Order: sequence, then structure tokens, then C-alpha cells
Amino acid sequence: MDSVAKSSFPRWTPHLAVKGNCSLSGFLKVSGAKNSALVLMAASILSEEEIRLKNIPFLTDIDVMINILKTLGIQTKRNKSYLLINPKEVHPNPLPSELVHSLRASFFCIGPLLARFGKAEVPLPGGCQIGNRPIDEHIKGLRKLGAIVEIKDNVVYASLANNQERLKAANIILDCPSVGATETILMATVLSKGVSKIKNAAQEPEIQDLANMLNQMGAKIKGAGSSEINIEGVELLHGCTHTVIPDRIEAGTLLIAAAITRSSLIVGPIIQDHLFAVLKKLDACGCTLLSNGDLIKIIPGEINSVDITTNPFPGFPSDLQAPFMALMATAKGVSKITENIFENRMQHVEELKKMGASIRLNGSIAEIKGVPELQGHYLEGKDLRSSAAIVLASLAAKGESKISGLHHLDRGYEELEEKLNGVGAFIVRNQKQIVAKDVSANLLNCDNLTINQEVA
Ligand code: EPZ
Repeated sequence: MDSVAKSSFPRWTPHLAVKGNCSLSGFLKVSGAKNSALVLMAASILSEEEIRLKNIPFLTDIDVMINILKTLGIQTKRNKSYLLINPKEVHPNPLPSELVHSLRASFFCIGPLLARFGKAEVPLPGGCQIGNRPIDEHIKGLRKLGAIVEIKDNVVYASLANNQERLKAANIILDCPSVGATETILMATVLSKGVSKIKNAAQEPEIQDLANMLNQMGAKIKGAGSSEINIEGVELLHGCTHTVIPDRIEAGTLLIAAAITRSSLIVGPIIQDHLFAVLKKLDACGCTLLSNGDLIKIIPGEINSVDITTNPFPGFPSDLQAPFMALMATAKGVSKITENIFENRMQHVEELKKMGASIRLNGSIAEIKGVPELQGHYLEGKDLRSSAAIVLASLAAKGESKISGLHHLDRGYEELEEKLNGVGAFIVRNQKQIVAKDVSANLLNCDNLTINQEVA
């Protein structure tokens, strides 16, 4: 492998060695959505019976959520095809702060615990690498539903007023279309007394997936996926079997892997409506996108610069801003990328500049002047999506890159190295060759696959 530019990279740091200038070909399988799976697991607390979740990805975030459920007395069992959750014996124990701080999504347990048991004790999730991540909308919503919510020593204590058996119904208008707050309020209202309404609700596909599962459990929710959701409270919720939607952010990341290496790839399953804004930008910057059912074939042409502004769904997702910036780093022309959702989501900029990218950053607005080629380097993943961005950039760069910060990457991408090695990349983790394991499950014989319908 070519030599890597020198850096103060400690030798013992777990890292990926990524060979550059690779061209990919074949089929990449998209796993189940992390940001849906996590909230569905929390929602299982609402059920009196067993919940079977299919298409749950193997990620460290999922492992942490399994531990969170265990601290509440909930037994789980999983194999390659499903996760079984048995919420019959649930105890609203205080959640351990070290687990909650390692996984922000564990805060999703507060709504279900309050709805089913009338009390919850959950540490404040606190900020993370991308921003301070407040929860004021969650708390305002729970208070509107009649909960008493106090914060003491960084722990949120929620309970019902003495004379209240269940949360009451309410009309809640969110100040911002927060995904998490919409999910917390949705889960809190399904067992409340009466009809509630959430206005200015988040419209992300993961909200619809949550509502679909809750309705399968006996809830009465209408309007999920729009900005106004109506919920008629019911007495109790029963078990169900539910398949998690495909991960639209992983799908977008894999499509960008094709675009940045100028390789034609087939990626799926993809629900096109979940990625419309991203598909439009890939089309606009020079990629031809053909579809056949839930598969998309991407054929990159010359990649030209396009501008991106991240917005709540159906706008361009904040979670794909970093991967798309890696693509713009070698696009023809100048692009402007504006991050509107989180205040510290530009940590990949310094890493891309180490590789020779020409980027000027002013707060959360980046101006990227495309260069003909990036150079491999010692790089550090600073958060989940920045880590993905530098893996993509390394695939296309000249020479080898070494990437540390793998604990971020492993939170949100299932078998990323194996999948990419399965279509022609050469990625080694900790100097141990990651043989593209039996990826037949990920690979499809592309010879007889007809992909013929223009997308976007
Ligand atoms: C979810 O985070 C996702 N995480 C994030 O994915 C995703 O980036 C985000 O939604 C936006 O789509 C999970 O689903 C586990 P928000 P969440 O509440 O719910 C402000 C990834 O990489 N806000 O919609 O925390 C907040 O500061 C992760 O997979 C308040 O002001 O997102 C932010 O600026 C990262 N008050 C904006 O809303 C609140 O009470 C969006 O936050 C809540 C949020």
C-alpha cells in the first residue's frame, strides 16, 4: 500500500486502513434503520405482550438500548432475523446515567414509562459531539399532558399528579419540528385519556414507522408523517411483529460511495420517498439514477458542484451533510453547504482539508472548491456521520488513509467495511484483513438485474 502522510497517530489506536483510488461494482444491501429501531425498542415498553422486531441492524447503539431495556427488567433475545422483546415484567427503575449518556435515544424511554406506569426517572441525555441537544420540547409536551416534570442533579423526574391515573389528552404545538420530541409525545399519548393533537410535528419516515408499529399494537394514530398528528388514547396495547424500514441515511451514504469513486453500483432496498431530496441532489450533480422496485442503480457522470442546505424532512437530511461534502470536495466548481439543524456538525471539514480539500468554513456554512484529487492521510472520525464522510473520501483519495474514531462509525453503520470490501474496496481494520465475509446475503447477482426506470 502507498505510504501515508506522517502524523502523530499513536500506533495502538484501533483504525481502518483504506486503500484509495478504488472502483466499486456490484450490489450493496441496505440494513434496517438505526433511528427507527431505537425508538421502536423504547416503544415496546408500552406493550403488555411480546414484541418481535425484524430487520434490526447489528450496531453498538442497538446493544446499548438492549442494556437499557434490561435495566427495566425487560428480557430480549435476538438472532440474525429478529429481536424478541418481552415487556411483561417491566419495572420503572431509574435508568443508569452512564448508559443514557452513551446513547441519547435512551431518553425515548421517558414517554412510554410515564404512559404505562405514571412515573419515570431518566438522566438528562446531555450534549454530544454535534451539539447541545436540548430536550425542552420533550418536557413542555409531557407537562401539557399533565405530567409533573422536575430536573434535579441532571436527572429528569416525571410523574402524574396524585389524582391522575393516566396522562390526559392535550393539543401540543411544537416550537420546532423535533424528531425526538414528536416521538416522546406520540408514545406518551397513546395510553392517555382522550384525543390529543401534535402540531408542527416532525415528518421524518421514522415517525411514520413508529406510528405504524403502535397502530399494529392497538393504538389509534392518524397523520404520522405530516405536520399534524391525531392520537386517540386507548386502554392498553398488545404485542405485534414489525419490520423496521430500511435505513435511508445508510442508503444515501452507500449511493455517495458510488458517486465519489465514480463507480456504478446497485443499492437497496431503498424507499425512494424517504430519500427524495438526496436523490434529487445526486441527479443534479451528475449521477444517473435508475430504479427497479426498491433497488436503485447509480451511474456517476462528471460530478459538478451543487449547493446543499439541511432542513427537517422532507428537506435534505442533516445526517447526510458530511458524506455529501466529501463528494463535493472533488466535484467540478464551487459548492456551498449550510447546516441548519445542529450547531457543531462540521467536524469532518478539518479532516477533509488534511486530504487536500479546499474548504472555507464560516460557522455552519462551508464553501467547497472542488479539487481534482484528494490525498490519503491519517484521519480521525469525530462523530458518526463525519466518520462516514472520511471513509468515503479515503476510498477515492490517492494512496492509503488510516482512520481512527471507529467507536463512532460502529454506532450507526452495520458491517460497513465488509459491505464495501464486497464490492471491490480494500479496507483493513487494525491491520487484520477484513475478508469480505460471506457477503452473499449482501450481494445480489447483478448480471440478470434490469434497472431501467429514471429516478428523481
Ligand atoms: C434525531 O435526533 C436523530 N437521532 C438524529 O440522527 C437526526 O440528525 C435528527 O433527528 C434530525 O433528523 C435519532 O433518531 C436517534 P431533533 P433528535 O430533536 O431527535 C432542536 C444520527 O446521526 N431541539 O429533531 O435529537 C435541536 O437542538 C443522529 O443518526 C430543541 O431545540 O433531533 C436540533 O437543533 C444524529 N429542543 C433540532 O431541534 C428539543 O427539545 C433537531 O433535533 C429537541 C430538539
